[in-house]
Amino acid sequence: ANVVEHTFNVGNLTVQRLCGQQVVTAVNGMLPGPTVKIHEGDKLIVHVHNHSPYNMTIHWHGIFQLQTGWADGPAYITQCPITPGNSYTYKFNVTGQEGTLWWHAHVSVLRATVHGALIILPRRGRSYPFPKPYKEIPIILGEYWDADIMEVERQALATGGGPNISDAYTINGQPGDLYPPCSSNYTYKLDVVKGNTYMLRIINAALNNQLFFKLAGHRFKVVSIDSSYTDPYDTDVIVVAPGQTTDALFTANQPIGDYYMAASAYSSAPGLQFANGTTTGIVRYKGATSAKPLMPIQPAANDTITAHRFYSNLTSLVTGPHWLPCPIDIDDQMFVTIGLGFAPCGGNNNCSNPVLGSQYRFAASMNNVSFQFPSRLSMLEAFHFGVNGIYTEDFPNRPPIVFDYTNTALSLNIPLVMTTKATRVKKVKYNATVEMVLQNTALLSIENHPMHLHGYDFYVLAQGFGNFNRTRDSKKFNLYNPQERNTIAVPVGGWAVIRFRANNPGVWFMHCHLDVHLPWGLATAFVVENGPTPETSLLPPPPDLPQC
Ligand code: C2O
Repeated sequence: ANVVEHTFNVGNLTVQRLCGQQVVTAVNGMLPGPTVKIHEGDKLIVHVHNHSPYNMTIHWHGIFQLQTGWADGPAYITQCPITPGNSYTYKFNVTGQEGTLWWHAHVSVLRATVHGALIILPRRGRSYPFPKPYKEIPIILGEYWDADIMEVERQALATGGGPNISDAYTINGQPGDLYPPCSSNYTYKLDVVKGNTYMLRIINAALNNQLFFKLAGHRFKVVSIDSSYTDPYDTDVIVVAPGQTTDALFTANQPIGDYYMAASAYSSAPGLQFANGTTTGIVRYKGATSAKPLMPIQPAANDTITAHRFYSNLTSLVTGPHWLPCPIDIDDQMFVTIGLGFAPCGGNNNCSNPVLGSQYRFAASMNNVSFQFPSRLSMLEAFHFGVNGIYTEDFPNRPPIVFDYTNTALSLNIPLVMTTKATRVKKVKYNATVEMVLQNTALLSIENHPMHLHGYDFYVLAQGFGNFNRTRDSKKFNLYNPQERNTIAVPVGGWAVIRFRANNPGVWFMHCHLDVHLPWGLATAFVVENGPTPETSLLPPPPDLPQC
């Protein structure tokens, strides 16, 4: 295997955006950070040096990390953070997957500015299962605060409310023409030649919003999501949740001119619109004389119908190079609720909450448990060395409390909305097949939660609205060509059913990829036992693994 090696220097970077200036944490002085490109079958080595004032870890979002859980990156799950002034080298093989993924900080809120594209090309000598595009371009959608984001998060957690809404969405780090005038000189531009086909590798790196993405005058053909090939899907709009990626082809087949690409929020919670403007980039045809670009018409921020149509119409390319059939027999069947809740403020007197007032702060939970991060040892070390007391293997410990989401009377029932703090994991035998029903609750409000599982791709069998009903809804399961993802946007006030085969030993985090929902507790982990052979077991930790 070829080895691809990178060095990431994490440190302060002063950036100009929205007519202002901010010091942000960034990799190699770039926002977004460097693109990492490898071929399937290669080994990736990344030396991370933390020159920033904050704790740091890097997560390789969507990479399986077969046997190399030590390189996965979530703080306190698979490693303790790299403290300021220290280093850690991530080493892993990339096999069995290709397409677009990304890397990001996995500690506090720093992934807002510490992120970049991770592109896995087909194995050397192989090609795409579609005609090779003329050019491939990462399109990283992000969010920008004209403020210190560490302070934004600190305030949200200390006060028990939600974080401030960002000041702009961004395309490849830039807000674009529709935000205040200073933005327009830096608007992201893509030059195209009429007649050629381009592949956009779209990544949603935003903290808090799903996004609708369009390109005026053009249609897309989606060919891959979360580094899994799809049946080609023709659409004029792409919907992408934080954590997800979408590879989409478009052909420059329109009259020579300038066209806006645009991203705006899909904000699913009824009555709570977190939307904040529209970010734009420009596709410029060769030979165009600069005129005003054509602007696409974005879906309304609450357009759940469009979002659901996109999300539920995708299917896997079963003739693709890494496709494996979906397991039919299930060893572990789980039913788990996800949603918001409250936790007591305790002695904190800055704490209060816009809904219940001064005694409670916002919390979030899976099955009414708010995940509590360990602090003295990573969970993966506890697993590997057999250390007790870091987590308990009793998730889910009791049937969840499920609500009919139309029953608003339940949503402010104090005893029901209180969550329990614990570090509960689900233990799974090596190679077991797991099915998980993710059911949104209607506590406080309903919202579409993008649930991400580390270490695996899972099959999405079905998704729908209301309460899951096995007799009725199992008839809708797609077992033939279900889409494969690492992040599923569970429909607002609804459910999704996923399956995976636990063939990767270690501790694998699962959580909502809306950023603040993680410290609020919308998470759990799978502890997957080692297999029968050394090749099916977790490797020992690298010598430079950071310690708490
Ligand atoms: Cu992209 Cu656990 O995260």
